[in-house]
Amino acid sequence: MQVIGVPREIKEDEGRVGMSPAGVYSLSELGCQILVERGAGNGSGIDDEEFLASGAELVDSADDVYANSDLIVKVKEPLKEEYSKIREGQIVFTFFHFAADRGLLDAMVDSGASCVAYETIEDRQGRLPLLTPMSEVAGRMAVLEGSKHLEKPAGGRGLLISGIPGVESARVVILGGGVVGLNAAKIAAGLGAQVTIFDISLDRLRYLSDVLPPNVIPLYSAPQLIREKVHQADLVIGAVLVRGDKAPVLVRREDLAHMNDGSVIVDVAVDQGGSVETCKPTTHSNPTYHEEGVLHYCVANMPGAVGRTSTYALTNATLPYLTTLARDGLKVFLNLGTPTALGLNVHRGKVCHPGVASAFELACENYQELSV
Ligand SMILES: NC(=O)c1ccc[n+]([C@@H]2O[C@H](COP(=O)([O-])OP(=O)(O)OC[C@H]3O[C@@H](n4cnc5c(N)ncnc54)[C@H](O)[C@@H]3O)[C@@H](O)[C@H]2O)c1
Repeated sequence: MQVIGVPREIKEDEGRVGMSPAGVYSLSELGCQILVERGAGNGSGIDDEEFLASGAELVDSADDVYANSDLIVKVKEPLKEEYSKIREGQIVFTFFHFAADRGLLDAMVDSGASCVAYETIEDRQGRLPLLTPMSEVAGRMAVLEGSKHLEKPAGGRGLLISGIPGVESARVVILGGGVVGLNAAKIAAGLGAQVTIFDISLDRLRYLSDVLPPNVIPLYSAPQLIREKVHQADLVIGAVLVRGDKAPVLVRREDLAHMNDGSVIVDVAVDQGGSVETCKPTTHSNPTYHEEGVLHYCVANMPGAVGRTSTYALTNATLPYLTTLARDGLKVFLNLGTPTALGLNVHRGKVCHPGVASAFELACENYQELSV
């Protein structure tokens, strides 16, 4: 049985931790030894004693975690300070987003570790089960952040999203009706906003029409109609995704001039370049900026601000995979089938995910031909 290490996340404004106490409990019941760095749960409101009570051992430093674990479980990609701690033969299970970071890829190839990336594991329907919970969180948060920033002191136009009897509610336009878009629509509709949601897939629009209440209008994503609705919107939420590609830009700088001053754009798709031309990544410490009088919120790791919810949500999704990795090892994990095996991005110095390899024009090794 493997030793599993859970280091403290060191990325700025990151409140999540790789495993909740419930995850620790399940794995320790299986006989795993789980090393948690002291204070790792602080950003998620989980204290060391909760981890101890669930069966973890507390260790004093990240060095102790990395040096003594077969399997490292994290949230964010390793940062430069962490590269040298990762060693040959170790499995690292976390979000990597390799295609966006050649330096990280080179460091992980050089380390000789096996890197299993949350974001590339698929289920049998081709969905991304370890990304879904974070999109659920970000979609719901997008409306709450948008609503808060519509308030005058936050830089908005001084609007209460729900309206009140006798005063109109806010007009919310959501671009993209996938996981983020659906979750945003649910919350905006629940608050009483007038919601329009755009998607390019007719099947998806039919589904949205079936499950969402009447104050949400699903519309086909045609540029002219998007422009018309965006110009009238109080809050625009960017939630498009074209898998493996940059987000399509659906709102141009010139559109902002037609919007009311103090309207708000929350571009959740910022991590794929954004669906709004004027979007640039921001942080939780400094989340907004104005362009053409419109307030932009473009935080690239929104779930990090609600560390507790996100940690529990992430562990719910990762635990079945982690259980296989810890109990049965990498070989059995890969033999679960191609959708799961797509998680293996780097193995002992070789790149083995086609998307990562093609992003840098590198050779892609077939995981079935590697010695595991
Ligand atoms: N900022 C954050 O913290 C954060 C957190 C979670 C997810 N995200 C990002 O949010 C984005 C959306 O994620 P998701 O899980 O909802 O993806 P998803 O695949 O579930 O949904 C994307 C939707 O966009 C639609 N779409 C594609 N092109 C379109 C177009 N031209 N017009 C309208 N709709 C179009 C697709 O049909 C699909 O329904 C991704 O970029 C994801 O990485 C960001």
